[in-house]
Amino acid sequence: MFNLILFGPPGSGKGTQSERIVEKYGLVHLSTGNLLREEIANKTPLGMEAKNFMDKGQLVPDEVVIGMIDNSLDHHKDAAGFLFDGFPRTVAQAQALDRLLELKKTEIAAVLALEVSEEELVKRLLHRGKTSGRSDDTNEEVIRKRFAVYTSETSPVADHYKKEKKFHSIKGEGSVDEIFDSLSAAIDKKIK
Ligand code: AP5
Ligand code: MG
Repeated sequence: MFNLILFGPPGSGKGTQSERIVEKYGLVHLSTGNLLREEIANKTPLGMEAKNFMDKGQLVPDEVVIGMIDNSLDHHKDAAGFLFDGFPRTVAQAQALDRLLELKKTEIAAVLALEVSEEELVKRLLHRGKTSGRSDDTNEEVIRKRFAVYTSETSPVADHYKKEKKFHSIKGEGSVDEIFDSLSAAIDKKIK
C-alpha cells in the first residue's frame, strides 16, 4: 500500500490536486470535508451535528472524523493506497491514523504540504463562495476563523510528520498544472 497526505490551509488546492493525484496513481481519495458534506446533504444525525461546527469555521470533534476514516478504510479493503485530504487536522487525529494504518500493516509514505499566502487563500475562497454553495466560503469572518483554527490546531500536525522525516513543502501558488508537476515529482521520488 502507498498512502499520502495532502496537507495545507483552507483553499490551498488540496481538493483540486487530489482529483488529479488519485487518477494518476490509482489511489482512493479520502476527504473528510467531502464525507461530512455528504452526511449534511443526506441530513443524517452526524451531518446535522457536524454542520454546526463547519458553519462557524470550527473543527468537527476528533472522534467523529476518526470514526468516518475508520469506516472508509474498511470499505476499501482492496485499495492500492489512500490519499488523505483535509485529514489529519489535529495531533490526536494523526496519532489515531498511525494506529489505524498500523493495524493494516501499512503507514504514511509522505505528507505533501501546499504553501500559499493568506491573502491568496482568502481571494480564492471568496471567489469560490460565489458559486460553490458552501456556507463556510461566503463570509470572510468564517474564512479567517478557519485560518486561525488551522494555525492553532492543524499546523502542529506538521511537526508530527517532520519528526518522522515524511514532511515535504510544495509551492502551492502558480498554475494548477505547475503545482501538479511539483507534487508528481515529489511522489515519484517516494515510489522509487
Ligand atoms: P474541508 O472541506 O477540508 O475544507 P478546507 O480544508 O477548509 O479547505 P477547502 O476544501 O476549502 O480547500 P482545498 O485546500 O481543498 O482547496 P480547493 O482545491 O478546494 O473542511 C471544511 C470543514 O469541515 C472544516 O472547516 C471543518 O469544520 C470540517 N472538517 C473537515 N475535515 C475535518 C477534520 N479532519 N477534522 C475536523 N473537522 C473537519 O481550492 C480552493 C479554491 O481555489 C477553488 O475554487 C479552486 O478552484 C481554486 N484553486 C485551486 N488551485 C488553484 C490555483 N493553483 N490557482 C488559483 N486558484 C486555485
Ligand atoms: Mg477541500
